[in-house]
Amino acid sequence: MKATVVYFSVSGKNEKLAQAISRELDTRNVSVDSVKLTPKNSTGAVMGALMAAFRRSVELEPYPELGDEDLLVLVGPVWASTMTPAMRTFLSNLPNLGGRRVINVVCGYHPHERVVERINRELRARGAGPIVSRAVRVSAFENSDYVTEIAADLCTKALE
Ligand SMILES: Cc1cc2nc3c(=O)[nH]c(=O)nc-3n(C[C@H](O)[C@H](O)[C@H](O)COP(=O)(O)O)c2cc1C
Repeated sequence: MKATVVYFSVSGKNEKLAQAISRELDTRNVSVDSVKLTPKNSTGAVMGALMAAFRRSVELEPYPELGDEDLLVLVGPVWASTMTPAMRTFLSNLPNLGGRRVINVVCGYHPHERVVERINRELRARGAGPIVSRAVRVSAFENSDYVTEIAADLCTKALE
């Protein structure tokens, strides 16, 4: 079984969770590719928040095409109560998912269930199969055992 873990992270917390999910999948004999979304031009926090609030996308550095994975994992922050411009661009370029399973995790100071749902709707519109999703508080990342626990729980649900 193959998985692609796609994430966006500026200060490293979403990256930490993406890596914990990758390790967890690896222990379950899933072969994992990781893709870090990188905007071509970096913006500061204020411009980033404004772009997110105005539902702008950004140009991304090229990343490998999605293709033969059985599981797609998305991990990304909430900015201005919505998804980041990088994740918006990624979702708008997503090919048809052909029923494949998806894990969708959104991290913020607060658990933003509406952002999770917004992304889930987009994923379903692109032909996603079963989606396991979760809104996570970044304060949880201070405890690395808890990050491992979240990752394990998501993987168990996605692979059952
Ligand atoms: C520009 C900006 C806007 C943010 N807006 C929100 C927000 O509206 N709600 C929230 O709960 N967290 C918000 N956050 C907190 C981020 O979600 C949190 O810092 C992020 O998940 C950390 O991810 P990273 O370390 O992987 O970059 C914001 C952070 C930034 C930088």
